[in-house]
Amino acid sequence: MKLKKILGIDIGGSGVKGAIVHTKKGGLITERYRIPTPQPPTYKAVTEVVAQIVEHFKWEGPIGVGFPGVIQQGVARTAANLDRSWIDKDLNRLFSKKTGCKVHVVNDADAAGMAEMKFGSGKGFKGSAILITVGTGLGTVLFSNGKLMPNMELGHVLLHNRDAELYASDAARKAENLSWEAWGKRFNEYLALIENLLWPDLIIIGGGVSKKDDKFLEHLDTRAKVVPATLLNEAGIIGAALASKYLNKLSVES
Ligand code: BGC
Repeated sequence: MKLKKILGIDIGGSGVKGAIVHTKKGGLITERYRIPTPQPPTYKAVTEVVAQIVEHFKWEGPIGVGFPGVIQQGVARTAANLDRSWIDKDLNRLFSKKTGCKVHVVNDADAAGMAEMKFGSGKGFKGSAILITVGTGLGTVLFSNGKLMPNMELGHVLLHNRDAELYASDAARKAENLSWEAWGKRFNEYLALIENLLWPDLIIIGGGVSKKDDKFLEHLDTRAKVVPATLLNEAGIIGAALASKYLNKLSVES
């Protein structure tokens, strides 16, 4: 793909963020523009917000969108932290029609993972790496030798008989007013479960908490090396833009 500039949009449980991305350099060309996620976060209300972001940048080129749920060929199959109205909607079509631009939608953790493996803390890493985005939910993505396994959805494994993200996400930390130590211990239990299932060589922690790593890394005790994501809250936007370029190959290596 010759185009180097793509508008990246990251739909989250609390905000919808966008910026124009330089896909060769892996950075933002513009400031991030953020609009709070409408409540309730129905597909109609959020689609309006996506259109407002496109309008803000006066954008007419290709767009990559990261969505917080399973995406199969552009169709949403889950939307745990949004609204049931999204289920089975063809988001590639919906957003393309609304914006008049060519839109490619992928899972948000897959997007963030692609950005980190291409430009961030996973750059050049050849073993198995898992990236966990910690925010409203727990997003997960696994790479083996740079190749992506899409829609991993390990935020929903059971931990203490409940959905792990309800126990160990950043939203759970805030809702239960947990200290970093208390939350770190919970997150460590989650990592132990993931390690026993997947045995990754490297764990990358992304999402909002990645910039607070000094507060919780000391409470983690893992077999694999743990590193914070270096692109911080830009990974979702950069990765969404990258996805249209690389996702068909499921690899960030070429
Ligand atoms: C969703 C995932 C998403 C993660 C982070 C989870 O609730 O099921 O698809 O990646 O939240 O947004």
